[in-house]
Amino acid sequence: MESLVKVYGRDESAVRAVDDVSFRVNRGEFTLVVGSSGSGKSTLLNLVGLLDRPTSGRISIDGTDIMHLNDGKTTTFRNRKLGFIFQFANLLTDLTVLENVMLPVQMAGGRDPRGYASELLGAVGLRDQMHKRADRISGGQAQRAAVARGLANRPSLVLADEPTGNLDSINSESVVQLMKSMCEKLGQTFVVVTHDQQDFGNVDRIINMRDGRAFQEMAPEAVR
Ligand SMILES: Nc1ncnc2c1ncn2[C@@H]1O[C@H](COP(=O)(O)OP(=O)(O)OP(=O)(O)O)[C@@H](O)[C@H]1O
Ligand SMILES: [Mg+2]
Repeated sequence: MESLVKVYGRDESAVRAVDDVSFRVNRGEFTLVVGSSGSGKSTLLNLVGLLDRPTSGRISIDGTDIMHLNDGKTTTFRNRKLGFIFQFANLLTDLTVLENVMLPVQMAGGRDPRGYASELLGAVGLRDQMHKRADRISGGQAQRAAVARGLANRPSLVLADEPTGNLDSINSESVVQLMKSMCEKLGQTFVVVTHDQQDFGNVDRIINMRDGRAFQEMAPEAVR
C-alpha cells in the first residue's frame, strides 16, 4: 500500500478518512489494525479489500498492481485472491453450513470445493454441524463457519473487520485462536481490524490508526 488516501465528501465537509497511509504486509504475517472509533480502520480495510477505490495512492497485492485493473478484473481478482471475515457471519440461511463455505470457491470458478471446505469446517470444530441449515447453529458456531468461509478459496490475503466484535469472550477467544493457528499452520496471511488488541497476543505487525494516519509498530521478533 503506497500513499493511500480516501476522502469522503467535498469542500468544507470533506473527511480524509485515510490520509497518506503506506505499509506492506509479507506473506504469512499476522497484522492488526487498531485505533479509536472513526480513525479510519474500516475505510483502510475496504481499500485493501478492493471493496472501495482510493482517492489516490497505489495498491499492489501478490505482484498485481490493482490500480490498473478495470472493475470486472478487480472483482475477479477479489474473488480469487482475497478472503473476508466480517463482524456478523451473514451466512445464507437457505443453505447448509458446508454450502455456505463452498460458495466463495464456486463464485471464483474453482472446482471441487467440497473436500477442502469440509476439512476447514473440521478444523474450526464444526464437523458435526456442517450439514445443518445455517440458521440452526449458534452465533459462535456461525462465526467459526465464517472463518472457514473466509479461507475456502485459499486466499493470498484474509481481511477481517472486527471478527469477534459480536461474540462473548469465550467464543471470541476461540475465533482468535482459530485465525492465529490458520496463520501458523497454513501460512495464511491475515490483516485484522480489532478493538481488542490484547486478545491477540503477539502478532507480526500492528498498524495504529489515528485521524486517518497510520503509525506502524512491529513485534521485535518480526523485524527481518
Ligand atoms: N461512507 C462514508 N461517507 C462519509 N464519511 C464516512 C463514510 N464512511 C466513513 N466515513 C468517515 O470516515 C472516518 C473513518 O471511518 P471508519 O469507518 O473507517 O472508522 P473506523 O476506524 O472503522 O471506526 P469504528 O471503530 O467505529 O468502526 C469517520 O470520520 C467516518 O465518519
Ligand atoms: Mg470500523
